[in-house]
Amino acid sequence: LGDKLFTYKGMVFPADHGSCQLNADYIDSLEDFEIRDDDVFIVTFPKSGTVWTQRIITLLYEEDFPDKANETTFQQMPWLEFREKDVDYESRQSPRLFASHLHEHMVPKGLEEKGKIIYVMRNPKDVLVSYFHFANKMKNLESVESYDELLNKFFTGWMLGGCWFDHIRGWISNKEKYNILILTYEEMIKDLRSAVVKICEFVGKNLSDEAIDKVVEKATFSNMKKDPKANYEFLPENMTDQPKGLFVRKGTVGDWKNSLTVAQSERFDKVYYDRMKDLHLEVNWDL
Ligand code: PPS
Repeated sequence: LGDKLFTYKGMVFPADHGSCQLNADYIDSLEDFEIRDDDVFIVTFPKSGTVWTQRIITLLYEEDFPDKANETTFQQMPWLEFREKDVDYESRQSPRLFASHLHEHMVPKGLEEKGKIIYVMRNPKDVLVSYFHFANKMKNLESVESYDELLNKFFTGWMLGGCWFDHIRGWISNKEKYNILILTYEEMIKDLRSAVVKICEFVGKNLSDEAIDKVVEKATFSNMKKDPKANYEFLPENMTDQPKGLFVRKGTVGDWKNSLTVAQSERFDKVYYDRMKDLHLEVNWDL
């Protein structure tokens, strides 16, 4: 299966995670990670709109952290599972903001009582295409030569984050357990302002219309692409030597139509409908 990735509890992680502390013990310990009432999590399967939503949330909380204004979104809202060795989450000032790609069965149990989760999903064919470009630029991921090869990986879950179908199923079928707002990448593209307002109301922030407008403006694709705090071009060279457009690449809906052949798309549909048929996902993706 290659040596760049490792699998644990049904999820797939990169074996080389730079300066982050990530191993089975740490992942196990997250189950007991203490949650506070005002913790906010963005949870996604990779390539579904994580850094976009992360940016929106950190902008909504800007006033809470005047001394952190120059930090990157990665610092302001770090990944729960990819914890830098010298960063202590327990003593972090509230409100704490976290990002995570964890599957539902792996997140802190305390989230069932406290905290808020924003779960963003995206048309899986666009996730696939976005991942194709990403995997071929990240040194710690297995590169993929063709979409046929990536389809095999997508169906078996041998990619960062593991199996998309399992991720969605875990979160959607257990959503009642959490204080959770479920959004789609597509609705964010269609009406960014409404999505920002929804997130703002969900986390209980009281921002003026003007303040919301500013958040929306900073979170547009073109502004995020050139924003060094938000576009992830700050990643160290040992992770990628092609940081440009890695996390803020194209930002459209339906890019899969430019990338998958009709046969590949039909192959995807067959697996999708078979694996999703008993899950009541109230989303009509243009598959
Ligand atoms: S990761 O690696 O999991 O954190 O990636 P993730 O952030 O989930 O997904 C990256 C895709 O999100 C797109 N993106 C945006 N789209 C629209 N507007 C804004 N502001 C924005 N910021 C990031 C990014 O371009 C990736 O999608 P693709 O299809 O590759 O362009």
